[in-house]
Amino acid sequence: MALSITPLGKSLGAEVTGLNLSRPLSAADRNALTTVFLSHHLVCVRSEVLAPNDFVRFGANFGKLQPQLYRNRFHPDEPLVSVMRSALTSKQLARPDRIRVAGWHTDDSYFPEPCKATLLQAIELPATGGATRFCNLKAAYEALDSTFQAQLTNLHAVHCYDTNRAHARAKDRTNRETQETENPAVHPIVRTHPETGKKNLYLNFNRMDRILELDQNESNAILDSLFAHIDQQRFHYHHIWQRGDILMWDNRCTMHAAVPDYEPGVMRLHHRILLRGEVPV
Ligand SMILES: [Fe+2]
Repeated sequence: MALSITPLGKSLGAEVTGLNLSRPLSAADRNALTTVFLSHHLVCVRSEVLAPNDFVRFGANFGKLQPQLYRNRFHPDEPLVSVMRSALTSKQLARPDRIRVAGWHTDDSYFPEPCKATLLQAIELPATGGATRFCNLKAAYEALDSTFQAQLTNLHAVHCYDTNRAHARAKDRTNRETQETENPAVHPIVRTHPETGKKNLYLNFNRMDRILELDQNESNAILDSLFAHIDQQRFHYHHIWQRGDILMWDNRCTMHAAVPDYEPGVMRLHHRILLRGEVPV
């Protein structure tokens, strides 16, 4: 069956149909998915729920799998898959602006070589709500005026495991996880995509503490103005999950944020795989 590609949002995302995930992907299908991933930044495949080892096999078509930070999320049958439970409490829902996963972020930017892609499969979903928002940081970069683009090109952000600038505090870690994340990573604010050669913003509002080259006030002013810029609908796609959906997105040129709008106590559960990335330049 031929593959069919349907854009999902005006700014990013495409759904691919016609795949048979019960068999290994052909080279042609793998190449087609990679092309969609690079041009639309986010691929959606509607699927049955995969066993963790099948999910790993699917992910390995697109890169090397990266072990993830939190040991207590490892799937018991397959440690390269993390189990992401995001049930909300009434207390959290009283202040949804303080829910950390609801903040715009890209995964694992506190590492010197952040993962290039995240694959998430929906296993259990609330009856309503619980979407994930995505932001296209290439489009956001291209929409800036050329003077601001030039100013940003020489700047680097310090990405920390936690920062007072984030709207909510980071999760507790074990001693070993603390050691693995104690050194901040410094990344360019404008990076060049290693596969497409295009420039985009590289931002994470849960992790960016300051701009290395500026004093705190100047740094805050620029980070605040970048937040206001990227927080515009025209750069966004809002994914309403169906059970079994597999999303694979490019962490190098997008951010994402969960929407905490579902009933307290209701389970929202995904399986997650990360693919190794490279040093941002
Ligand atoms: Fe995330």
